Amino acid sequence: MSAQPGVFVVMEGPDKSGKSTQALLLVRALRRRSVPVVHTREPGGTSLAEAVRDILLDPDRKIDPLAELFLYEASRAQHTREIILPALRAGKIVLSERYTMASLAYQGCARGLGLAVVRTLNRVASCGLVPDLTLVLDIPESEFGSRPRGSLDRIEREGADFRMKVRQAYRRLSRAEPRTLLVNGRLPVAELHELIASKVDGLLQKEDFMKRVMPPERESSPPGGED
Ligand SMILES: Nc1ncnc2c1ncn2[C@@H]1O[C@H](COP(=O)(O)OP(=O)(O)OP(=O)(O)O)[C@@H](O)[C@H]1O
Ligand SMILES: [Mg+2]
Repeated sequence: MSAQPGVFVVMEGPDKSGKSTQALLLVRALRRRSVPVVHTREPGGTSLAEAVRDILLDPDRKIDPLAELFLYEASRAQHTREIILPALRAGKIVLSERYTMASLAYQGCARGLGLAVVRTLNRVASCGLVPDLTLVLDIPESEFGSRPRGSLDRIEREGADFRMKVRQAYRRLSRAEPRTLLVNGRLPVAELHELIASKVDGLLQKEDFMKRVMPPERESSPPGGED
C-alpha cells in the first residue's frame, strides 16, 4: 500500500493493447459507485507534461534515446508532483495509463539503455512512488496491425522488431516487478473489463479503501431507511 490514503493503479502494455479502452470502462464503473477516481496518462497528465508528450510523439522529430528517456522522466516528475501525489493524499484512486514500467520496457529494454539507469531515473521522477497495482495488457506484435489506428506517432512508427522487444520486456517485467498482473489483451473487451474490475475490487477490499475513504452513509442504509 502507498504511504498515502489513496490507491494507485496503472494500466500498461504495448501500443494499441487496449489501455485507454479498459481505463475508461474501469473509471466509469468506479464513478457509478461514487468512488473518487482521477484518470490520467503518461506521457502527459498536466499542461507541461502534455507539451512534452507532443514533442515525444511528433513523428518529425529525431530524438536520441537518452534524451527520450529524460523527456519521459521530466513529464513523470511534473505529473507525479502536480496530479498523482496530491490525489493520493486526498484519498482518491488514481488510474494512470502508463507509468514507470513503460520506461523500463521502451527505453530500458527496446531502446537498449538498460534497466539500471531507467530504474534510477524512475525512482527520482516518481519520488519513489510504486503503484499498488500494475495491469499489463499483453498482445502479440501481429495484433498491432490488425487494430484500428489513426496516423502513427513517432513511437508507433518503430518497426515490428521494436514492438516485439517491447512486448517481451513487458512479459519479463510482469514476472519480476511487484504488484503486477499480466492479462491477455486479446480477450473480448467486456470479459477483460470484468477481470480487471474484479482485480481492482480485490485490491480496494484489501486496502480497506471503502471503509477508509468512502463516506459512512454509503456503507449501510440509514436507520429506518428503505431497503
Ligand atoms: N480487447 C480488445 N479486442 C480487440 N480490439 C480491442 C480490444 N481492446 C481495444 N481494442 C481496439 O484496439 C484499438 C486500440 O485500443 P486502445 O486505444 O484502447 O489501446 P491503447 O493501448 O490505449 O493504445 P495506445 O497505445 O495508442 O494508447 C481500438 O480501436 C480499440 O477499439
Ligand atoms: Mg491509449
